[in-house]
Amino acid sequence: MQDDSGHSLEMDREEMLRLAGRAAEVLADRTGGLRNQRPWDGEFRSVLEDQFGSPPPESGRPAMDVLEQAVGEILPFAARLDHPRCFGFVPTAPTWPGVVADFLCAGFNPNAATWLSSSGVSQLELVVVDWMRNWIGYPDSAGGVLTSGGSTASVEALVTAREAAGHPPFPSVYISDQGHSALKKAAFVAGVQRENTRIVRSGEDFRMDMSELRRMVREDRARGLHPMAVCANAGSASTGAVDPLGPMADFCAEEGIWLHVDAAYGGFALVTQRGKELLEGIERADSVNLDAHKWFFQPYEAGALLVKNLKHLETTFAMGHDVLQDTIWGANHPNMSDRGLQLSRAARALKIWMSVQTFGMAKFRDAVRNGLDLAQRAGQYIESNAALELTNEVALGIVCFRFNTGRGDDEQTLEELNRKLLAEIFWSEHAFFSSTSLKGKFSLRICIVNHTTTWEDVKSTLDLVARLGREASQSGSST
Ligand SMILES: Cc1ncc(COP(=O)(O)O)c(C=O)c1O
Repeated sequence: MQDDSGHSLEMDREEMLRLAGRAAEVLADRTGGLRNQRPWDGEFRSVLEDQFGSPPPESGRPAMDVLEQAVGEILPFAARLDHPRCFGFVPTAPTWPGVVADFLCAGFNPNAATWLSSSGVSQLELVVVDWMRNWIGYPDSAGGVLTSGGSTASVEALVTAREAAGHPPFPSVYISDQGHSALKKAAFVAGVQRENTRIVRSGEDFRMDMSELRRMVREDRARGLHPMAVCANAGSASTGAVDPLGPMADFCAEEGIWLHVDAAYGGFALVTQRGKELLEGIERADSVNLDAHKWFFQPYEAGALLVKNLKHLETTFAMGHDVLQDTIWGANHPNMSDRGLQLSRAARALKIWMSVQTFGMAKFRDAVRNGLDLAQRAGQYIESNAALELTNEVALGIVCFRFNTGRGDDEQTLEELNRKLLAEIFWSEHAFFSSTSLKGKFSLRICIVNHTTTWEDVKSTLDLVARLGREASQSGSST
């Protein structure tokens, strides 16, 4: 008889606890010591390939050694997106209950596909999505689903829009020149030919130009296209600009076109009064996507898609299979996989629910407000600093600016100077942020959405830019 010992992928309880305990200790120390670490680290492929390019080992080695290697030699090579002075792209600073929730989910491993497979977390998903429905100001008919992030939510939104339009031939989609590449990808996946994703010019304020939108839709109809969706930004990634949501909703209603709002980054501003005012009109959209892994302090992946009329989502995505016949428990027990692309799904609601239960909404609201306030204060500080220049009005948590010598340098000189400066910032070990292009004009950009960021973090970063800029411009002028 064959001996079946030695096949096991199990661990004894003591070793499990030791390993998980060490992981928890590493993470708690990391979080506590983050402020004293550099906000960014990276390594070149050639070095990492030498270290990790080998085939899978035939025999294993002690789990603690493997963990220490991951913690010491792999995970540190990344932007520390939760560092209080990490302002690059759209960073995120997960709360500890959210991190622990993901660990619990990995261990319990519920499959959030169907009510039968995971009633507990399915119920939580309904609850969390309903919170979001309320924040948006949607009616009871609305509902949604948690997604991996904004990209998936955008695909699901535009496929739903296509079905709501009757799956027309030659569909077209309208996105402003500030719209995220995720929307363009989504339109392509939803069956829109690349040339029929129409890029609508934005105005000087980076908000969609309504007269351009009207003109393009009129012309496209005349040449046989079927305008299927208009996508609005509620916090564009580049500048934080919010498109004219009310007028866009009016236009879409007149024209019978689906309005989708990409609120991936800006959406959670809705939990504050100021955010509600800034995003007024969002409740009139047919669909909205927002990412809790951005301004709601969750680990990746925590996106959401909400649709004003939930029926559209289920009509689009509910497709049965023989092997799933036991999972049909009726409308009161929805299968969340009927609302989107994924069948097997992680239980993303738990992290959002656990963090909100732990801290309460008052603290979440304060944390979002902190970003809004610091961004405004940064704008004022830049305006009062002769070495710095705001390159756009501050919007939500995004501040676009640059170093300016004040000597009347031409655009090219300023661009070269600021590019050089950004590279120095990367290696400064003090702060990490990134850049953008404002209608062709190079701009530095900080995105302040971290609940641990203080004014001192923002100010010291801006002061560093001013100092490095002065040094660079002085060394440039003396050579
Ligand atoms: C405005 C906006 N839309 C969409 C996305 C894409 O979202 P995700 O990275 O979650 O797929 C981002 C990402 O930063 C974003 O800022």
